[in-house]
Amino acid sequence: MATLTPPVQANLSRADLIEEYDRDRLGFVMRAVRRYGPVVELSPGTVLVADGEVAHDVLRRTNRDFLMDRDRAWRPTDSRRGEDALESWMSARRAMLSALSGDLVAEHLRWYSASLTTLLDTWAGQGRTADPLRPLMRLSTDAFLRLCTGPSVSPDERAGLATAVAGLLDALNPIVRSSYELPWFLDRLTGRRRRAARAQHRLETGLAALVDRPPPAGLVAALRDAGVPREPLVRILVSAAIAARLVPAAANVWTLRAMAVHQPTDEPAHVVDEVLRMWPPTWLIHRATHAETASGPWRFPAHAALMICPYAIHRDERHWADPTEFRPARWRDGRPPAGAYLPFGGGPRWCVGTHLAKAQLVEAVRVFRHYRLVDDSGPVTTDTNSTLHPRGLALRVGRAAAPERNTTR
Ligand code: HEM
Repeated sequence: MATLTPPVQANLSRADLIEEYDRDRLGFVMRAVRRYGPVVELSPGTVLVADGEVAHDVLRRTNRDFLMDRDRAWRPTDSRRGEDALESWMSARRAMLSALSGDLVAEHLRWYSASLTTLLDTWAGQGRTADPLRPLMRLSTDAFLRLCTGPSVSPDERAGLATAVAGLLDALNPIVRSSYELPWFLDRLTGRRRRAARAQHRLETGLAALVDRPPPAGLVAALRDAGVPREPLVRILVSAAIAARLVPAAANVWTLRAMAVHQPTDEPAHVVDEVLRMWPPTWLIHRATHAETASGPWRFPAHAALMICPYAIHRDERHWADPTEFRPARWRDGRPPAGAYLPFGGGPRWCVGTHLAKAQLVEAVRVFRHYRLVDDSGPVTTDTNSTLHPRGLALRVGRAAAPERNTTR
């Protein structure tokens, strides 16, 4: 049997780790990988994983040997197998995956394409767009809510829910971006936690009303018809609403930028794969151990926090030739080995919205091609406080050809 070794030790104190990490999160992580290798214990109990094979194994064994230690609203959870909450979550997940793989998405994409065209037309009318992130966040949320309600609910009727989603994300922002974690029983009492709890309650109440009286078509009706009980249904809708705002908008902004800077003529799906390789919005995925646990040659301590870094894994020269070059044509040769590409995570907790998000991005590439996009930014920085996204992006936008128009609602 192969000998197990503990991860390479960086020997930072917790305080030094937080200080260095907060100064430049991505830079710190990439420097640590270069200096110590792809599996390193940064400070006691905090392990960085930038090895695709190990990451794949950890993700695959999630719910069993590795835990999600917090939910999408950043509250501590116990995701151990056998927990009722986990079983009902996994079954709601299966229903959502199945609902998001059929006709619902096909109809949705027509609406999405028309809505994105309207947005780009507005920018083209103005000749340029300042930071496109906010409008794209609004579109992502509206897209998710319209998917939930189907076409019979008007944008005005969706507006209240959209405000509740935005309110929850804003309230979570200071919690997610903070490296300082208070013990849960203390954190519960802080102003930021109370604000987040109120915002979460508002969104839950709005989504529960939808679950109780679902409109005839749409995701909520499909999930009710599939027999998902009320409580886990509201829970997964809240999580998906959070997941479907900033992350897809960030992917969209990276795509816009790549189109403006590189003008790729490749197949849209290859452009999307390459954008998500170079700039995976979820650049860190968190897991925890409950007992001492091995993966590959490594022995992780009990109660360790694992930081899996898709960004670093996507730039690993063992799997990617010239990894820092944007080259969609590399995807013509097929898919990379398991673990080398993780924009949507992996294992039993991989992203439920993968199919939807990829289809939306492919549609976005098609829409963007109807426009002349020129990068007109000053210095662009990369925000890594939570989701990886560019800041300070500005584009000149003009019409390249008359785009097809549909009506949107
Ligand atoms: C480009 C867009 C997107 C990216 C890159 C992305 C990425 C991810 C990743 C990496 C995870 C796994 C996190 C982990 O393992 O801890 C995840 C989970 C999740 N995503 Fe997405 N996502 C995207 C869009 C969406 C959309 C549109 C939805 C809405 C349906 C969605 C719903 C979810 C949910 C509900 C989870 C939690 C799954 C679970 O815990 O079982 N995502 N996403």
